Amino acid sequence: MLRSKIAGIGYYVPERVVKNGDLVQIMDTTDEWIQERTGIQERRYGRKHEETTTTMAAAATRIACERAGIRPEDIDFIIFATLSPDYYFPGCGVLVQRELGITHREVGALDVRNQCSGFVYALSVADQFVRTGTYKNVLVVGSEMHSMGLDFSTRGRNVTVIFGDGAGAAILQPSDNPERGILATKLHSDGTYAEKLAFINPGCHGGYHMRKLGEEADLGYPPVETPGEIFFTPRMLQEGLYYPNMEGQFVFKMAVQKFPEVIFEALQAAGLTSADLDMLIPHQANLRISQFVQKKLGLRDDQVWNNIQRFGNTTAASIPIALCEAWEAGKIKDGDLVCLAAFGSGFTWASALLRWG
Ligand code: COA
Repeated sequence: MLRSKIAGIGYYVPERVVKNGDLVQIMDTTDEWIQERTGIQERRYGRKHEETTTTMAAAATRIACERAGIRPEDIDFIIFATLSPDYYFPGCGVLVQRELGITHREVGALDVRNQCSGFVYALSVADQFVRTGTYKNVLVVGSEMHSMGLDFSTRGRNVTVIFGDGAGAAILQPSDNPERGILATKLHSDGTYAEKLAFINPGCHGGYHMRKLGEEADLGYPPVETPGEIFFTPRMLQEGLYYPNMEGQFVFKMAVQKFPEVIFEALQAAGLTSADLDMLIPHQANLRISQFVQKKLGLRDDQVWNNIQRFGNTTAASIPIALCEAWEAGKIKDGDLVCLAAFGSGFTWASALLRWG
């Protein structure tokens, strides 16, 4: 069977830099709190109504294509990971297809809804297609325009200060060198804690899951016998129940457990250990989480790429942005063993082990 490799990678972040001090002007938070708990100093926000999750993805894709030596029209299949899509439906896969002008060919487009682990899940799916010889140029893209869907009042501060906008893209191709490419991918999920980090409204749940969990489910839905359905209730609008919510400490505890587990699992599958690793690209959830994982794996500072300080958490985009930055900085060279790892909402977590080149 063939092996797949990342033939080209690119990223795009919007120009506008939003520092912690800018957020202090609009909500009750401090630069010290944000830096001490997360490591974040600033993040980027896209130009409202001009940039979208799709346009940023297209910008990152054009760079990845150029570096892979292909034109966007050569892409055979698109896998798009995001939690902040332009539309509820259709997904961003078809929108980026149109944005890139790939409409003369009926390529396939698939949207992945796995939040922070979305890019690694998408990469794993692409890997299966390439290894089986189904497709030759698969676009794997993660992009987020978080700034359009955050609560900028003090109520939302625990979530809002963490997230930023950006996009990262990779072109996966068959590898002509059997020693190079994706060695292993590991994917996991546990829906038990789905609501611990979630964006639940609007949706068709009608309070179902909360009732089952024995939690408050009154979102102001009309009585069931009322004809017609409403997706969005007045109560949701009045109380801002249409923003993401997170139980930070719970998520943190799970993350520090699952990150190392899934990294060790991929290493083991390839018959390798953490001593063989040249570079770890962790999903940029929190600098403290990355530092914990680094210690657990016994890696030096220069073996872990962190950019959350400058970009915040860009969810599905964070791994390809970090990978691309590390590669552009010359920190990933031909033959290096690179591990990508993510944990996030779902919960879902995943890793990918690659021999670069
Ligand atoms: N500024 C100032 N104070 C804030 C704040 C902010 N932006 N956000 C929350 N607080 C306050 C809380 O209200 C709370 O106050 P209280 O003690 O008076 O009730 C206090 O800070 C502690 O809140 P807590 O949520 O317990 O903080 P924490 O130490 O757990 O840090 C996170 C919060 C979000 C940084 C941390 O839990 C985390 O990073 N979790 C993992 C998140 C993650 O990885 N998410 C993405 C997964 S992909």
